[in-house]
Amino acid sequence: MATKCIAFHSYKGGTGKTTIASNCAALLAKKGFKVALLDLDVYAPSLLAYFQRQPRKWLNDYLLGNAEVEEVMTHVTDIVEDYTRKYDNSAEIKGKLWIGFCSMKKEEIYRIESGTSETSKSQLRRFILLRDNLIRDYDLDFVIIDTSPGIRYWSINALAVADTLFLTLKMGDIDVEGTKRLASEIYGSLTKYGTRSFLLFNRVSGYCMPVHGTQFSDQENTTKNTTLIDGYGTSDAENMLSKETRMDVISAIPCYCDIQFSRKEFLTALRYPDHPFTKEMEILANAMATKL
Ligand SMILES: Nc1ncnc2c1ncn2[C@@H]1O[C@H](COP(=O)(O)OP(=O)(O)OP(=O)(O)O)[C@@H](O)[C@H]1O
Ligand SMILES: [Mg+2]
Repeated sequence: MATKCIAFHSYKGGTGKTTIASNCAALLAKKGFKVALLDLDVYAPSLLAYFQRQPRKWLNDYLLGNAEVEEVMTHVTDIVEDYTRKYDNSAEIKGKLWIGFCSMKKEEIYRIESGTSETSKSQLRRFILLRDNLIRDYDLDFVIIDTSPGIRYWSINALAVADTLFLTLKMGDIDVEGTKRLASEIYGSLTKYGTRSFLLFNRVSGYCMPVHGTQFSDQENTTKNTTLIDGYGTSDAENMLSKETRMDVISAIPCYCDIQFSRKEFLTALRYPDHPFTKEMEILANAMATKL
Protein backbone atom coordinates (compact mmCIF):
# COMPACT_ATOMS: atom_id res chain seq x y z
CA MET A 1 0.00 0.00 0.00
CA ALA A 2 1.36 3.44 -0.91
CA THR A 3 1.77 5.77 2.08
CA LYS A 4 -1.25 7.98 2.70
CA CYS A 5 -0.57 11.44 4.05
CA ILE A 6 -3.62 12.87 5.81
CA ALA A 7 -3.93 16.31 7.43
CA PHE A 8 -6.61 17.16 10.01
CA HIS A 9 -7.48 20.82 9.72
CA SER A 10 -10.31 23.20 10.70
CA TYR A 11 -11.33 26.79 10.26
CA LYS A 12 -12.01 27.30 13.96
CA GLY A 13 -10.17 25.82 16.94
CA GLY A 14 -11.43 23.11 19.26
CA THR A 15 -13.20 21.01 16.64
CA GLY A 16 -11.61 17.69 17.71
CA LYS A 17 -8.61 17.47 15.35
CA THR A 18 -6.12 16.31 17.98
CA THR A 19 -8.57 13.90 19.63
CA ILE A 20 -9.61 12.24 16.36
CA ALA A 21 -6.11 12.24 14.81
CA SER A 22 -4.57 10.64 17.93
CA ASN A 23 -7.31 8.04 18.39
CA CYS A 24 -7.28 7.11 14.71
CA ALA A 25 -3.48 6.90 14.60
CA ALA A 26 -3.43 4.56 17.63
CA LEU A 27 -6.29 2.45 16.28
CA LEU A 28 -4.59 2.08 12.89
CA ALA A 29 -1.41 0.92 14.67
CA LYS A 30 -3.48 -1.56 16.70
CA LYS A 31 -4.90 -2.86 13.41
CA GLY A 32 -1.39 -3.56 12.10
CA PHE A 33 -0.54 -0.39 10.14
CA LYS A 34 2.68 1.62 10.47
CA VAL A 35 1.76 5.18 11.37
CA ALA A 36 3.61 8.46 11.98
CA LEU A 37 1.63 11.17 13.76
CA LEU A 38 3.08 14.68 13.40
CA ASP A 39 2.25 17.70 15.53
CA LEU A 40 2.19 20.55 13.03
CA ASP A 41 0.08 22.69 15.34
CA VAL A 42 3.30 24.67 15.76
CA TYR A 43 1.60 27.72 17.31
CA ALA A 44 -0.15 25.74 20.07
CA PRO A 45 1.27 22.18 20.10
CA SER A 46 -0.81 19.63 21.95
CA LEU A 47 0.48 16.11 21.27
CA LEU A 48 3.12 16.46 23.99
CA ALA A 49 0.48 17.16 26.63
CA TYR A 50 -1.74 14.46 25.13
CA PHE A 51 0.85 11.62 25.08
CA GLN A 52 3.16 12.84 27.87
CA ARG A 53 6.32 11.46 26.29
CA GLN A 54 9.62 13.32 26.19
CA PRO A 55 11.17 13.30 22.70
CA ARG A 56 14.94 13.38 22.14
CA LYS A 57 14.49 16.39 19.84
CA TRP A 58 11.61 18.47 18.54
CA LEU A 59 10.17 18.77 15.07
CA ASN A 60 11.21 22.43 15.45
CA ASP A 61 14.85 21.26 15.58
CA TYR A 62 14.38 19.24 12.42
CA LEU A 63 12.75 22.13 10.55
CA LEU A 64 15.67 24.38 11.54
CA GLY A 65 18.20 21.80 10.33
CA ASN A 66 19.42 20.85 13.83
CA ALA A 67 18.19 17.25 14.06
CA GLU A 68 17.90 13.99 12.12
CA VAL A 69 14.61 12.19 11.48
CA GLU A 70 15.30 9.39 13.99
CA GLU A 71 15.99 11.95 16.73
CA VAL A 72 12.60 13.64 16.35
CA MET A 73 10.40 10.57 15.89
CA THR A 74 9.44 9.01 19.24
CA HIS A 75 8.44 5.35 19.13
CA VAL A 76 5.24 4.94 21.18
CA THR A 77 4.03 1.52 19.99
CA ASP A 78 4.41 0.32 23.61
CA ILE A 79 1.43 2.51 24.61
CA VAL A 80 -0.73 0.88 21.93
CA GLU A 81 0.53 -2.57 22.99
CA ASP A 82 -0.06 -1.96 26.71
CA TYR A 83 -3.58 -0.67 26.16
CA THR A 84 -4.46 -3.47 23.74
CA ARG A 85 -3.23 -6.08 26.21
CA LYS A 86 -4.92 -4.43 29.17
CA TYR A 87 -8.27 -3.45 27.69
CA ASP A 88 -8.75 -5.81 24.76
CA ASN A 89 -6.97 -8.97 25.94
CA SER A 90 -5.18 -9.21 22.61
CA ALA A 91 -1.74 -10.52 21.89
CA GLU A 92 1.09 -8.48 20.42
CA ILE A 93 0.18 -5.96 17.76
CA LYS A 94 1.86 -5.89 14.35
CA GLY A 95 1.53 -2.18 13.64
CA LYS A 96 3.76 0.65 14.83
CA LEU A 97 3.25 4.22 15.97
CA TRP A 98 5.76 7.05 15.98
CA ILE A 99 5.08 10.62 17.00
CA GLY A 100 6.87 13.81 15.98
CA PHE A 101 6.36 16.29 18.82
CA CYS A 102 6.43 20.04 18.50
CA SER A 103 7.89 22.17 21.27
CA MET A 104 5.56 24.19 23.49
CA LYS A 105 8.33 26.61 24.54
CA LYS A 106 7.52 30.12 23.41
CA GLU A 107 11.03 30.84 22.08
CA GLU A 108 10.89 27.64 19.96
CA ILE A 109 7.48 28.62 18.57
CA TYR A 110 8.83 32.10 17.85
CA ARG A 111 11.88 30.71 16.01
CA ILE A 112 9.64 28.69 13.69
CA GLU A 113 7.08 31.42 13.29
CA SER A 114 9.25 34.41 12.66
CA GLY A 115 11.59 33.35 9.90
CA THR A 116 12.49 35.60 7.01
CA SER A 117 11.02 34.45 3.72
CA GLU A 118 14.33 32.70 2.93
CA THR A 119 14.40 30.73 6.21
CA SER A 120 10.67 30.01 5.89
CA LYS A 121 11.34 28.47 2.50
CA SER A 122 14.15 26.35 3.88
CA GLN A 123 11.91 25.18 6.76
CA LEU A 124 9.23 24.17 4.26
CA ARG A 125 11.86 22.27 2.23
CA ARG A 126 12.92 20.49 5.46
CA PHE A 127 9.28 19.60 6.16
CA ILE A 128 8.89 18.03 2.70
CA LEU A 129 12.19 16.19 3.29
CA LEU A 130 10.86 14.90 6.63
CA ARG A 131 7.76 13.49 4.96
CA ASP A 132 9.82 11.89 2.17
CA ASN A 133 12.38 10.39 4.58
CA LEU A 134 9.63 9.05 6.83
CA ILE A 135 7.93 7.38 3.89
CA ARG A 136 11.23 5.93 2.61
CA ASP A 137 12.90 4.83 5.86
CA TYR A 138 9.94 3.90 8.07
CA ASP A 139 7.93 1.94 5.50
CA LEU A 140 4.82 3.82 6.61
CA ASP A 141 1.21 3.20 5.71
CA PHE A 142 0.07 6.54 7.11
CA VAL A 143 1.48 9.96 7.89
CA ILE A 144 -1.16 11.77 9.96
CA ILE A 145 -0.71 15.49 10.51
CA ASP A 146 -2.42 17.50 13.25
CA THR A 147 -2.52 21.18 12.25
CA SER A 148 -3.30 24.63 13.62
CA PRO A 149 -6.79 25.92 12.89
CA GLY A 150 -7.37 28.69 10.36
CA ILE A 151 -5.30 30.04 7.52
CA ARG A 152 -1.77 30.36 8.88
CA TYR A 153 1.65 29.70 7.37
CA TRP A 154 2.22 26.27 8.95
CA SER A 155 -1.38 25.12 8.51
CA ILE A 156 -1.11 25.79 4.80
CA ASN A 157 2.28 24.04 4.64
CA ALA A 158 0.78 20.99 6.35
CA LEU A 159 -2.12 20.96 3.90
CA ALA A 160 0.24 21.36 0.96
CA VAL A 161 2.33 18.27 1.80
CA ALA A 162 -0.71 16.04 2.46
CA ASP A 163 -2.56 14.10 -0.20
CA THR A 164 -5.85 14.03 1.75
CA LEU A 165 -7.40 16.78 3.88
CA PHE A 166 -10.01 16.32 6.59
CA LEU A 167 -11.76 19.61 7.31
CA THR A 168 -13.09 19.06 10.82
CA LEU A 169 -16.19 20.96 11.92
CA LYS A 170 -17.80 21.12 15.31
CA MET A 171 -21.56 21.08 14.86
CA GLY A 172 -23.47 23.91 16.47
CA ASP A 173 -20.50 26.22 16.13
CA ILE A 174 -19.87 26.25 12.42
CA ASP A 175 -18.80 29.41 10.67
CA VAL A 176 -20.45 28.55 7.37
CA GLU A 177 -19.01 31.53 5.50
CA GLY A 178 -15.48 30.95 6.83
CA THR A 179 -15.67 27.27 6.00
CA LYS A 180 -16.88 27.98 2.47
CA ARG A 181 -14.05 30.48 1.97
CA LEU A 182 -11.51 27.98 3.28
CA ALA A 183 -12.91 25.28 1.01
CA SER A 184 -12.86 27.42 -2.12
CA GLU A 185 -9.70 29.51 -1.61
CA ILE A 186 -7.34 27.08 0.07
CA TYR A 187 -8.64 23.56 -0.49
CA GLY A 188 -9.77 24.43 -4.01
CA SER A 189 -6.28 25.44 -5.09
CA LEU A 190 -4.79 22.24 -3.61
CA THR A 191 -7.41 19.89 -5.03
CA LYS A 192 -6.55 21.24 -8.49
CA TYR A 193 -3.25 19.40 -8.07
CA GLY A 194 -4.84 16.13 -6.98
CA THR A 195 -5.24 16.56 -3.22
CA ARG A 196 -8.51 15.08 -1.98
CA SER A 197 -10.56 16.79 0.69
CA PHE A 198 -13.43 15.70 2.91
CA LEU A 199 -15.66 17.21 5.58
CA LEU A 200 -15.43 15.55 8.98
CA PHE A 201 -18.35 16.54 11.22
CA ASN A 202 -17.75 16.14 14.92
CA ARG A 203 -20.06 16.35 17.92
CA VAL A 204 -23.03 16.09 15.61
CA SER A 205 -26.08 15.17 17.61
CA GLY A 206 -25.46 17.19 20.73
CA TYR A 207 -27.09 14.94 23.27
CA CYS A 208 -25.46 12.95 26.02
CA MET A 209 -24.39 9.42 25.36
CA PRO A 210 -24.30 6.96 28.28
CA VAL A 211 -21.09 6.16 30.12
CA HIS A 212 -18.23 3.89 29.06
CA GLY A 213 -18.82 0.27 28.34
CA THR A 214 -22.44 0.55 27.27
CA GLN A 215 -23.27 -1.49 24.21
CA PHE A 216 -25.35 0.14 21.52
CA SER A 217 -27.14 -2.39 19.41
CA ASP A 218 -28.65 0.23 17.13
CA GLN A 219 -25.92 2.87 17.16
CA GLU A 220 -26.45 4.04 13.58
CA ASN A 221 -30.10 4.81 14.15
CA THR A 222 -29.76 6.37 17.56
CA THR A 223 -27.09 8.87 16.63
CA LYS A 224 -27.55 9.89 13.02
CA ASN A 225 -30.29 11.92 11.38
CA THR A 226 -31.24 13.39 14.72
CA THR A 227 -33.36 16.52 14.77
CA LEU A 228 -31.64 19.21 16.80
CA ILE A 229 -33.43 21.41 19.31
CA ASP A 230 -33.49 24.35 16.91
CA GLY A 231 -35.39 22.25 14.40
CA TYR A 232 -32.64 21.60 11.89
CA GLY A 233 -31.80 17.98 11.21
CA THR A 234 -28.12 17.17 11.54
CA SER A 235 -27.99 15.54 8.17
CA ASP A 236 -29.63 18.57 6.53
CA ALA A 237 -26.79 20.73 7.82
CA GLU A 238 -24.23 18.15 6.69
CA ASN A 239 -25.80 17.89 3.25
CA MET A 240 -26.05 21.64 2.81
CA LEU A 241 -22.40 22.25 3.63
CA SER A 242 -21.24 19.26 1.63
CA LYS A 243 -23.09 20.63 -1.40
CA GLU A 244 -21.88 24.18 -0.93
CA THR A 245 -18.24 23.20 -0.44
CA ARG A 246 -18.42 20.37 -3.00
CA MET A 247 -16.71 18.12 -0.46
CA ASP A 248 -17.92 14.66 0.53
CA VAL A 249 -18.45 13.82 4.20
CA ILE A 250 -15.94 11.23 5.46
CA SER A 251 -17.50 10.91 8.92
CA ALA A 252 -20.09 12.39 11.29
CA ILE A 253 -19.18 11.69 14.90
CA PRO A 254 -21.69 12.32 17.70
CA CYS A 255 -20.94 14.34 20.80
CA TYR A 256 -20.22 12.19 23.85
CA CYS A 257 -20.60 14.01 27.13
CA ASP A 258 -18.30 11.62 28.96
CA ILE A 259 -15.52 12.62 26.52
CA GLN A 260 -16.37 16.29 26.55
CA PHE A 261 -16.38 16.55 30.34
CA SER A 262 -13.61 14.06 31.10
CA ARG A 263 -10.65 15.64 32.87
CA LYS A 264 -8.40 14.37 30.11
CA GLU A 265 -9.54 12.26 27.19
CA PHE A 266 -6.77 9.80 26.30
CA LEU A 267 -6.99 7.15 23.57
CA THR A 268 -10.63 6.27 24.23
CA ALA A 269 -10.50 4.13 21.08
CA LEU A 270 -8.02 1.78 22.85
CA ARG A 271 -9.17 2.10 26.44
CA TYR A 272 -12.85 1.53 25.81
CA PRO A 273 -13.22 -0.95 22.93
CA ASP A 274 -17.03 -1.01 23.36
CA HIS A 275 -17.54 2.74 23.58
CA PRO A 276 -19.62 4.17 20.70
CA PHE A 277 -16.84 6.70 20.01
CA THR A 278 -14.53 3.72 19.38
CA LYS A 279 -17.01 2.36 16.82
CA GLU A 280 -16.92 5.74 15.05
CA MET A 281 -13.11 5.70 15.08
CA GLU A 282 -13.20 2.14 13.67
CA ILE A 283 -15.39 3.31 10.79
CA LEU A 284 -13.12 6.30 10.10
CA ALA A 285 -9.93 4.19 10.35
CA ASN A 286 -11.42 1.62 7.96
CA ALA A 287 -12.36 4.39 5.52
CA MET A 288 -8.81 5.75 5.76
CA ALA A 289 -7.40 2.31 5.04
CA THR A 290 -9.72 1.26 2.25
CA LYS A 291 -11.40 4.27 0.63
CA LEU A 292 -8.66 6.88 0.31
N1 LIG B 1 -16.99 13.58 19.65
C1 LIG B 1 -16.70 14.27 20.76
N2 LIG B 1 -17.56 14.30 21.81
C2 LIG B 1 -17.30 15.01 22.94
N3 LIG B 1 -16.17 15.71 23.11
C3 LIG B 1 -15.27 15.74 22.11
C4 LIG B 1 -15.47 15.02 20.89
N4 LIG B 1 -14.40 15.24 20.08
C5 LIG B 1 -13.56 16.05 20.78
N5 LIG B 1 -14.07 16.35 21.99
C6 LIG B 1 -13.50 17.23 23.03
O1 LIG B 1 -13.42 18.54 22.47
C7 LIG B 1 -12.31 19.24 22.99
C8 LIG B 1 -11.48 19.80 21.83
O2 LIG B 1 -10.91 18.72 21.13
P1 LIG B 1 -9.46 18.82 20.47
O3 LIG B 1 -8.46 19.39 21.42
O4 LIG B 1 -9.18 17.49 19.89
O5 LIG B 1 -9.76 19.91 19.34
P2 LIG B 1 -8.72 20.57 18.33
O6 LIG B 1 -9.44 20.80 17.07
O7 LIG B 1 -7.47 19.78 18.27
O8 LIG B 1 -8.44 21.97 19.06
P3 LIG B 1 -7.32 23.06 18.66
O9 LIG B 1 -7.82 23.71 17.40
O10 LIG B 1 -7.33 24.00 19.83
O11 LIG B 1 -6.04 22.34 18.46
C9 LIG B 1 -11.55 18.25 23.86
O12 LIG B 1 -11.89 18.48 25.20
C10 LIG B 1 -12.06 16.88 23.41
O13 LIG B 1 -12.01 15.90 24.45
MG1 LIG C 1 -5.49 20.38 18.56
